[in-house]
Amino acid sequence: MSESGARPRVFSGIQPSGDLHLGTYLGALRQWVEHQHERENVFCVVDLHAITVPEAIDPKGLKAKSREVAALYFASGIDPDANLVFVQSHVREHAELTWLLNCTTPLGWLHRMTQFKAKSDARESVSTGLLDYPVLQAADILLYDTDLVPVGEDQVQHVELTRDIAQRFNHLFGEVFTLPDATVPPSGARVMGFDDPDAKMSKSVAQERDRHAVNLLDDESVIKKTVMSAVTDSGREFRFEHAGAGVRNLLGVLRSLTGESYEALADRYEGRGYGDLKKDVLEAILETVRPIRERYEAYAADPAELDAILARNADRAREHAARTLKRAQDALGVGA
Ligand code: TYM
Repeated sequence: MSESGARPRVFSGIQPSGDLHLGTYLGALRQWVEHQHERENVFCVVDLHAITVPEAIDPKGLKAKSREVAALYFASGIDPDANLVFVQSHVREHAELTWLLNCTTPLGWLHRMTQFKAKSDARESVSTGLLDYPVLQAADILLYDTDLVPVGEDQVQHVELTRDIAQRFNHLFGEVFTLPDATVPPSGARVMGFDDPDAKMSKSVAQERDRHAVNLLDDESVIKKTVMSAVTDSGREFRFEHAGAGVRNLLGVLRSLTGESYEALADRYEGRGYGDLKKDVLEAILETVRPIRERYEAYAADPAELDAILARNADRAREHAARTLKRAQDALGVGA
């Protein structure tokens, strides 16, 4: 638990590597917002993670994208006065602790990460950073003596690795790090692509395929096209018993947005056409994203104010991060 023994400490982050979509919202952002006042939170825009795929680096656009992601945190309901929100590269301690952890983490642990395998299989050559990415993630989490890491399902393995890295370091060099636990939401932890319900909804795929994801800042007409063309089953009517991946994904999204149970939803749509289900999913999505988009516009209209908030918060984050880094340096015998 936190130093004060009162509220658990939280760290989480999103990469500014594409548009934030419904999966990011339901898997991560919404649980951050829901529990923000029970916890002491650090929510980071992890731009150093976004440069691990060199082909995707956009030097001109990255700073603007980081600002956009921060604005979307606030627009989704993160209270700027009650949480620390900043950009990862503004706090150098993240990169510095990564090096220390690199030196105590066995290489084999990184080769086992399923996300690395999936990303590297699809590429001819990968950066060292892509392999090392989970160590940077561990540094993010460990710098703030984090108890809980609210994430979608695909990040659980990285949080478990963070525990292993911390445990090994503590075992070898003394008690420096707090061991974190991942928390995943009861629904929405793995939203699938609307055009391909066998694959997770993803920012990078969404850049290549129009009907893959609903992005939080998409126009309503675009959202409508994406949802109404979502893949369902080959039959024409809803049969809960035989529901395939596409129908289950739509039900999961609706359940997550409305809080209704699968049973209630199954009863409502049994024997009806898929169009009815899609219309309701569309309505629930639009109701969720409309206020987010409105609040986003207000933040986007004042980038100087946003930058000032992010700079102030980075200063505060640095104080905590520097204390933890010093403990790790002392344990290893480096640093001034
Ligand atoms: P990223 O940017 O890929 O995703 C951000 C968050 O959104 C969740 N998420 C999803 N949840 C449900 N369904 C989906 N289709 C979906 N897609 C994404 C992710 O699980 C994540 O919670 N490595 C991390 C960023 C990171 C981080 C950290 C997270 C860096 N340091 C420290 C937690 C703590 C990532 O790439 O997330």
